[in-house]
Amino acid sequence: SAEKSFAGQKVMITSGPTQEAIDPVRFISNHSSGKMGAALALAFAKKGAEVHVILGEGAVKPAHQNIQIHPVRSASDMFQKAENLHSQMDISVFAAAVADYSPKIAAVEKIKKQGETLTLELVKNIDIALNLGYKKLPHQIHVGFALETENEAFHAKEKLAKKNFDMIVLNSMKDAGAGFKHDTNKVTLFFKTGNPQTSKVLPKDQIAELILSGIKSLPVLI
Ligand code: PMT
Repeated sequence: SAEKSFAGQKVMITSGPTQEAIDPVRFISNHSSGKMGAALALAFAKKGAEVHVILGEGAVKPAHQNIQIHPVRSASDMFQKAENLHSQMDISVFAAAVADYSPKIAAVEKIKKQGETLTLELVKNIDIALNLGYKKLPHQIHVGFALETENEAFHAKEKLAKKNFDMIVLNSMKDAGAGFKHDTNKVTLFFKTGNPQTSKVLPKDQIAELILSGIKSLPVLI
């Protein structure tokens, strides 16, 4: 709808994959295309929000006069940008697939082919949503995602509480047409109180509309 129901609201969205350098030519990453984040950014922008997208390398770039793109590569870059913007935001949506670990050392030169096995030492990355969840002020809304392969509802509810989200959007790798890369998704929205809401498999722009309706139904925005 053309209704400007998010006019005056500042929204930050993390979107796409992160890339963690192994050496100058190689990295660790994942299958996120940025389609879900782009659909959300456009939905907010059309409803009048000022939208900031912190966008991983190679992810779909949403274009609209109300959208500003902040390109990043690693989880650490993504965290720095998100932390800078966060205090000015009304709504933060964590749709990115952030690498949980990165190589302890990014080799300066290309790693040469050597023995039959090669061991990479990985260190834990900062959790962007968790860290900013500690800083969340009462007027701020945080929406997380959970990408799961088993015990989906349990893990989603656990992340909702642990990361101080107001709402979490579960997508399961077990559902056909859901999650990474597809133009569609199937989600369940979990709230701090009230019943979860499960969607059908729908185009990501329609899933984005459901997520925005979920946000509008949160007690803090009234
Ligand atoms: O980009 P697409 O191809 O369209 O696919 C969309 C998607 C599947 C990537 C998206 O819908 C999605 O589920 N994104 C979150 C994927 C994920 O990393 O989920 P998680 O369960 O590992 O993380 C839980 C939450 O914490 C997420 O909101 C995540 O952004 C956030 N997180 C995780 C780790 C980390 N270091 N920092 C974070 O902020």
